[in-house]
Amino acid sequence: MSSHDNERNDKVLSDDHLPQSPEGRGQVAVADDPFADPGLPPHEPRRQDVDERAAKRSERTISLLFTLAMLATVGFIAVYSTVSVEKIVYIFPFGHVSATNFGLGLTLAVALFATGAGAIHWARTLMSDLETADERHAVEATPEVKAKVFDDWKQGVAESQWTRRKMVRNTMLGALTLVPLTGVVLLRDLGPLPYSRLRHTAWKEGSLIINESTMQPLRPEDIVVGSLTQAMPEGLDPHAEDFHAEIAKAAVMLVRLEPEEIKDQRSAEWGHEGILCYSKICTHIGCPATLYEQQTHHALCPCHQSTFDLADGARVLFGPAGHPLPQLRIAVNDEGYLQALGDFEEPPGPSFWERG
Ligand code: FES
Repeated sequence: MSSHDNERNDKVLSDDHLPQSPEGRGQVAVADDPFADPGLPPHEPRRQDVDERAAKRSERTISLLFTLAMLATVGFIAVYSTVSVEKIVYIFPFGHVSATNFGLGLTLAVALFATGAGAIHWARTLMSDLETADERHAVEATPEVKAKVFDDWKQGVAESQWTRRKMVRNTMLGALTLVPLTGVVLLRDLGPLPYSRLRHTAWKEGSLIINESTMQPLRPEDIVVGSLTQAMPEGLDPHAEDFHAEIAKAAVMLVRLEPEEIKDQRSAEWGHEGILCYSKICTHIGCPATLYEQQTHHALCPCHQSTFDLADGARVLFGPAGHPLPQLRIAVNDEGYLQALGDFEEPPGPSFWERG
C-alpha cells in the first residue's frame, strides 16, 4: 500500500470517529469549548408529570414491587428454615430438583428483581427527568458551588417525591431493610458454633492410652528410651462419624527419657518414670509434630519446621509455633496400664488467639 493510500485511509478513519458538530461531518469541537452542548431535544413532560392519576398509578405499582420484594424475602427465610435439604420435587421443565435450592433461588430472584424493578420504575416515572448539563471547573469547588450542590441535593430530594410519596418511600425502605436478610440467614451455613468443644478432648481421668498402630493399651515397658509412640485415648472408634474430629484434638505421642535428662520439673512429675505424653498436634497450624530426634529429644513439625524440646516441657526452640505442645498427665493403673489423669489443661492444636 502506498503512502498516499495510507494518508487517505487515516483521513477516512479519523473523519468517521471524530465528534460531530451541528455544522457538519468531521468538524471537531473547538479547543476553547471541548465539551460543546451536543444539542438535547426539548423536554417532553411525561404522563405522570401532568396527570396526577397516572402518577398515583405509578406510585401503587412501585409500592407493589417493593412489597413483593419484602414478601419474597420472608418466603426466602421461610424456605430456608422449614424445607428439608433432602426434599426433592418435580418442577417442569427442570425435572427433579432440590426443593430448598429451588425455593431459595426463586424467592431470592423475585426479591432482587422486584427491588430493582421498583427502583427503576420510580426513577422513570416519578423522579424528575429533566436533563441538565454541569459545567466543568477546577477540581476544588468554591463555596458557591458547594452551596449550589446542597441546593441541588435538596431539589433532587423534592423532585424525587421522597417526602411526598410516603407509600413509595416506606415500602422501599422496608424492601431495602429486609432483602439483605437473605444474606444474613445464610450465615447459618457456616455451621454450628464450637462453644467449648475446642477446649476439651476425648481424654478423661482413667482413659487408657492406646497404641495407634496396634490398637492395644500401652504399658510402661512398651515405651523404650529413644522411641516415640503415637497413641490415642481408649473408646475412640476409627469408624465413627466424629472420629477424625476427635482424633484431631486427642492424638498424642509418648517418649521415654532417662529421668535425669528431663529439664522441666513439672513435665517430669506429669509423666511416669521418664515417659512423657504430649499432644502431637503442632501449635502452629496443626500438623503432626512427630519427627523425633532421639539424641536431642527434639520433635520437629514437617510443615514449617517448628521444633519442640520434649525434655523441657515441649518448649518451642524454632519455627512459627507460638506455644509449647500441651502435656497430658499420665500414671499407671492397678493393672499396669498407662492411663490419663484427666484432659489436657489447655486446648491442644493451633494456638488460640488469647495465647498471643
Ligand atoms: S504446622 Fe507445624 S510448624 Fe506449621
